[in-house]
Amino acid sequence: MTAGQKDIIQKTAGYVRQKFSGESSGHDWWHMYRVWQLAKTIAASEPQADLFITELAALMHDVADAKLVESEEAARQEIRDWLAGQGLSAEDIQRVLRGITGISFSSTLGGKTAQLTPEAQIVSDADKLDGIGAIGIARAFTYGGSKNNLIHDPEAQPRELTDAADYHANTPATTNHFYEKLLLLKDRMYTATAKELARQRHEYMERFLEEFYAEWDGKR
Ligand code: NI
Repeated sequence: MTAGQKDIIQKTAGYVRQKFSGESSGHDWWHMYRVWQLAKTIAASEPQADLFITELAALMHDVADAKLVESEEAARQEIRDWLAGQGLSAEDIQRVLRGITGISFSSTLGGKTAQLTPEAQIVSDADKLDGIGAIGIARAFTYGGSKNNLIHDPEAQPRELTDAADYHANTPATTNHFYEKLLLLKDRMYTATAKELARQRHEYMERFLEEFYAEWDGKR
């Protein structure tokens, strides 16, 4: 990567950091930071992906997330404007935008599949990895708290989610979120590196849930 490209990545990190400061629902700057770092780790074993495009897409992957913005098109335009201001070619801007397209969990529900570019596969993997493991557990309860959900409700059954509307409907207890989403993520990884990291993080969550239920019923 050239010094100029490294400089653009640092400037973009500063821009994203400022944009997401004050977000506390789990999509704060540090989520972007972790996805960026994970994307670099995964990209080290994916020579067909362009590292410059991958890093920019990882940093900006939630700027146009439908959950977080009023208009996805306006958000994509903001990304285009920012990258054009950094001197990226129209072609590279398109590659960054393709790197954040089709990566959301809800876009894979109901058996839908998306054709992802090598860069998007890495960003998707990194984003989903940040939703599982120790960080994923912490994020799930923080998000549930922001929605006034109980940590657990023995009478609430997990649902099978089939579309985006289901997914965005409220879950009454955060433990259900593990069965509705978090424990499904390890089977939605694209790259070999992410599959291995997901396997470890998945095991950690299973151990957490086992301990959680034992404590819930006063057995430990
Ligand atoms: Ni994200």
